[in-house]
Amino acid sequence: MSEASIGAEVLREQYGDDSRLAARQSLWAGRTGPSLYETVLDLTCLSGTESIVDIGCGNGAYLAELRRRGHTGPLLAVDRSAAMARGSSRYAHPAVADAQALPVRSRGVDVALCAHMLYHVPDLPLAVGELRRVLRPGGKAVITTNGPGHTAQAKAVMVEAVSRVTGVDMDPDWDTRRFDPRTARDLLRASFDEVDGHELRDSTPVPDKGIVSAYLASWPPESAGLSAGPVWRAVLAAADELLDAHYAMKSTMDMDSRVAVFVCR
Ligand SMILES: C[S@@+](CC[C@H](N)C(=O)[O-])C[C@H]1O[C@@H](n2cnc3c(N)ncnc32)[C@H](O)[C@@H]1O
Repeated sequence: MSEASIGAEVLREQYGDDSRLAARQSLWAGRTGPSLYETVLDLTCLSGTESIVDIGCGNGAYLAELRRRGHTGPLLAVDRSAAMARGSSRYAHPAVADAQALPVRSRGVDVALCAHMLYHVPDLPLAVGELRRVLRPGGKAVITTNGPGHTAQAKAVMVEAVSRVTGVDMDPDWDTRRFDPRTARDLLRASFDEVDGHELRDSTPVPDKGIVSAYLASWPPESAGLSAGPVWRAVLAAADELLDAHYAMKSTMDMDSRVAVFVCR
């Protein structure tokens, strides 16, 4: 999310519970191949016994997948949202903490996982330095983020809805400006000797209009330079009309996924 628009209060609202995150995750429910979590963990090349800290763990999607595949090493779930950390406690030891000051001793873990969260952190170099600090020699940090064009089809709907209601052209890539895969590598290289980047490109059919509608409604109004209230509600109503028109003509919306994964040593 963009630096200018997403402050601490908006973050609290976004992650006070997992409903908005779950609405965004639902977009990919129709994926036929491996899930993003499976692909990222495959790229991490784990033996199954490593100690792992999942930073910004959210509702524990990666931790659940680790448990599903029989991971036996210690798992720590860190999130600044108490509700998220608590929700992940069925998979891992939970800790309410900030990525900029991890509650882990130096050289304390084998793997630091930081999935789709660095764009929220105020001091990016500090958080990346923390990833480096907590890793044991030979350990790795795994970082994921969205790339430009991610969910382009849904974003096009929102851009049109915002334009119809406010006359303003919003930035469709508002969510990737702050931690763009194209510039992330330089930031990561400041702390790590090796940075292996992987680009994951996919398209998933979304047959249910309600899923796209809920996805757009999960965005903070600040993404369009607005705040919660009647104008934002009018934007969401306009988006719904556009989605109705789309689904009246087509049985599905093919949603692009653009994700970057960095494995750092
Ligand atoms: C988009 S969710 C990602 C959840 C999970 N990693 C995933 O990929 O499914 C971002 C998470 O990062 C957390 N978060 C945001 N800023 C944080 C910070 N400075 N330190 C720790 N967690 C943070 C949020 O509370 C939220 O749970």
